[in-house]
Amino acid sequence: MTAAASDRPAPLRTRVSELLGVDYPIVQAPMGWIARSQLASAVSAAGGLGIIETSSGELDAVRREIIEMRRLTDQPFGVNIAQAFVRDPSIADFVIEQGVRFVTTSAGDPTKYTSHLKAAGLTVFHVVPTLAAAMKAVDAGVDGLVVEGGEGGGFKNPRDVSTMVLLPLVASRVDVPIIAAGGIADGISMAAAFALGAEGVQMGTRMVSAAESPVHGNWKQAIVDAAETDTVFLNRFSRPGLRALRTELTTRLERDEQVDLSVFGRITDLYFGGDLEASIALTGQVAGRIDTVESVDEIVHGTVHEFRRCVAALDRYR
Ligand SMILES: Cc1cc2nc3c(=O)[nH]c(=O)nc-3n(C[C@H](O)[C@H](O)[C@H](O)COP(=O)(O)O)c2cc1C
Repeated sequence: MTAAASDRPAPLRTRVSELLGVDYPIVQAPMGWIARSQLASAVSAAGGLGIIETSSGELDAVRREIIEMRRLTDQPFGVNIAQAFVRDPSIADFVIEQGVRFVTTSAGDPTKYTSHLKAAGLTVFHVVPTLAAAMKAVDAGVDGLVVEGGEGGGFKNPRDVSTMVLLPLVASRVDVPIIAAGGIADGISMAAAFALGAEGVQMGTRMVSAAESPVHGNWKQAIVDAAETDTVFLNRFSRPGLRALRTELTTRLERDEQVDLSVFGRITDLYFGGDLEASIALTGQVAGRIDTVESVDEIVHGTVHEFRRCVAALDRYR
């Protein structure tokens, strides 16, 4: 994928791009400490949707990042309210006051913030890892769903279901627009997600590896070097399930019955100090398909170009 930064494709209109007010329905995943203004503003400027995280729990820093986004870009951006990690419910009011138009809620009950945020005019998508969770979110009145397969990086339902199975299942049962997450890194995987019922995609691991991502080069290089088998699933029989890069530490933890969250104690030494054994590097299986560090422009625009080439090529089977 080698689209030049200037090679900006024509907008791709779907219900997701219309709701988000963006040229391309490509969303950068919320990721603790990483999904901050440096990365998110690059994605929004490229025509996708940058998202600011709250799962770090560092709400003062998050508030500064949201304000910084206003300075760095006049394009739309979103905020993720990671409910399990945000104990201060005033974050919702802060997001509203800042004029943010789009929120994803995750890791919690979809009824908690949906009506409050929607009453203030925001668009709300809830992240779901199962059909039951999808139906509950739709009942709660969300505008759309982020349907997240278990191959993705990050916190996971221990009973993980792959995007290939979950996405068409949910799409066959709901009418709201869907953003697919888990395993998507380029135009062909985006085209596959659209074939399965999505109208937008969210990329986590691919965005960790982006040139503008603030993480240490050691982690980006580990993603580039990773085989498709180089992630581990932690807490298969307890919670929270986690998908992370295979390292010496995580290969040991893989066998533990319960990995508790103290493992994140030195997370910034890993994320920003580059010590891959200091903590666990949340990473998806799609690392096995990522071969180079590219700029956000190259990722977003290259994805749209490749998506269109793929869709056109499939036309020969009509
Ligand atoms: C480093 C990292 C941190 C993440 N943190 C969050 C988070 O705070 N909130 C959330 O909803 N999802 C989080 N996720 C999951 C992503 O939002 C996304 O759905 C997932 O990465 C998609 O799969 P992929 O890694 O194959 O692209 C995280 C993923 C990664 C890789």
